Amino acid sequence: MENPVENAKRLAAFKAVDNHVVNGVIGIGSGSTVVYAVERLAQRVKEEGLEVICVPSSFQAKQLIIQHGLRLGDLEMHPELKVTIDGADESDKQLTLIKGGGGCLTQEKILASCAEEFIVIADYRKASDNLGQQWSKGIPVEVIPSAYRSVYQRIEKALGGKSELRMSGASKAGPVVTDNGNFILDWNFEGVKNWREVEISLNMIPGVVENGLFVGMARKAYFGMSDGSVMERE
Ligand code: 5RP
Repeated sequence: MENPVENAKRLAAFKAVDNHVVNGVIGIGSGSTVVYAVERLAQRVKEEGLEVICVPSSFQAKQLIIQHGLRLGDLEMHPELKVTIDGADESDKQLTLIKGGGGCLTQEKILASCAEEFIVIADYRKASDNLGQQWSKGIPVEVIPSAYRSVYQRIEKALGGKSELRMSGASKAGPVVTDNGNFILDWNFEGVKNWREVEISLNMIPGVVENGLFVGMARKAYFGMSDGSVMERE
């Protein structure tokens, strides 16, 4: 594989699937790195007879599972997962994550919370010392559509910074609508000291469904590097 970023994603995804997946129910995150994790899962099912039921975090994840011929499950039938594997937009050294670049943060956080182990896979561009060093688009906040302006104002009043309603496509003709039928605000924060407090404060605002800060959830992260190695953080 020529592209160093794609190669890095693939390395991280393959290693995480090899190290953490055994027979059982698996949560499948969303995004471009997860594509490689599903590819590796399908290989292991075929080659080793691995028996997994895959619970998707999004429409994209569901399609991936189906396309690879994997067994599809849902949280109603399987509310307890062995492991969830997912990408991230940024991870600091404590494995505090920003997620939701693809707008799937709510279901991703649910799957992460239902798993015995939540494992992150990413390329080298996602690893930072402090959040905001790598991901410049802010923290995604999923909101009930009718409340987007009031949430916007309340976030600024309570926490400062600036929010933007995420628009779809190059023409920005309308807001991005999530798999849950909601909108996304991207909040560009300033001077945050305590991510746990921010995560809770955001979710206390009426109209907020969930936010893309994942604090204290990830057990381990695999970052594919440009030199072909994989950096592990836990
Ligand atoms: C989607 C997500 C993704 O996991 C995140 O955006 C990373 O995506 P990619 O693997 O394409 O870099 O949170 O809501």
